[in-house]
Amino acid sequence: MSDDSTPPKALATRLISPATQRGKGRRPVNPPIERASTMLSDDPAQMTSSRDGPVYGLEGGSAARQLRSILADMEGAHDSLIVPSGLAAVTVPLTAILRAGDEVMCTDAVYGPTRRFLTRHMFERGIQTRFHPADASTDAIIDSLGDNTRVLLIEAPGSLTFEMVDMATLARACKERGIITIVDNTWGAGLAYRPLEHGIDISVQALTKYVGGHSDILMGAISVATKAMADTIFETIDDNGWHVSPDDAWLALRGIRTLPLRYRSQFQSAMKVVQWLEQQPQVSRVLYPPLPSFTHHELWNSQFDGAASLFGVVMKGGSRADAHRLMSGLSLFGMGYSWGGFESLVTYETPQLEQRLHQADLEGQLMRFHIGLEDTDDLIADLHRGLSAWPT
Ligand SMILES: Cc1ncc(COP(=O)(O)O)c(C=O)c1O
Repeated sequence: MSDDSTPPKALATRLISPATQRGKGRRPVNPPIERASTMLSDDPAQMTSSRDGPVYGLEGGSAARQLRSILADMEGAHDSLIVPSGLAAVTVPLTAILRAGDEVMCTDAVYGPTRRFLTRHMFERGIQTRFHPADASTDAIIDSLGDNTRVLLIEAPGSLTFEMVDMATLARACKERGIITIVDNTWGAGLAYRPLEHGIDISVQALTKYVGGHSDILMGAISVATKAMADTIFETIDDNGWHVSPDDAWLALRGIRTLPLRYRSQFQSAMKVVQWLEQQPQVSRVLYPPLPSFTHHELWNSQFDGAASLFGVVMKGGSRADAHRLMSGLSLFGMGYSWGGFESLVTYETPQLEQRLHQADLEGQLMRFHIGLEDTDDLIADLHRGLSAWPT
């Protein structure tokens, strides 16, 4: 917090400055990794008081506390809770809020494991989900909200096909109807988009991706606007004993210090790569909201300040075998799931689209690329080699 004489500090500074705060005595820059289940007290009374720090390992150590406070500042949240995966960051609030008879409205382009949680786990507990088409307009989504809709789960952009919606308008419409809004903001990372500033109730993100940044942890953050919601979600975490390990909290804290730098640099690299890809004869379309040619570019432009380095490429025709040949022909793009790390990755996504209720009308095979921190000329040269085997 700044007083009247100090101007508010930029986010890049605020992610780092808790490490250099004065008045805390001689210490390392980073908090130690506190591996602990049991915490010892000096007398019996202290054993039941959290005033001197956690009384049991489940409450989390210094790295987890500093990480949560930085995340809450970044997301403009009352509180940010951390859980053991990005998927858990989506499923925990749904578990905390929904009861039998409730309905969830959700995009058909939702992250696959979230869809599975809704259609299997939640369905078995009496909670229905309705999936709106991935390219539905904001007005159409509002019109489809029903009397039993308790949660609108937004993923913007949608997984694999990158559709956008007007989130502030959806938040307003849901508030009027008493519907809770949750945004999976993994792509916006709390940097390019901050959902709570636009009236959204809960912003979740997989810290596994850009915050971790090095493809070596799994973690999720749930950032909430109010104390009441923080208490509701914390109870679910606490009741279930879902805990983040001190080593992982420490790695996420290390990652978040350099988040803006990596995110911005990877965005710039992605722009160079997509502009090149758009010109290639084997490519039909690039699905990336910052591209002026993308259908929902204006929705991105009016809401986001930056972008993740993850995009889809619709090829001209081709087959599964061609997609596999393209992937095998690349040497700098790792074949692996996830994104947000330092390394470039490629996946073949057409088979994943089959889970959708409303089929996407794509004119060729769908590939997904994540651009890492490698030199862009090297990445483009690699793509040039990989694309050369595509049938034209
Ligand atoms: C949009 C989105 N949300 C959530 C997740 C889940 O993150 P995690 O892998 O940490 O469970 C992913 C993972 O790919 C994702 O793409």
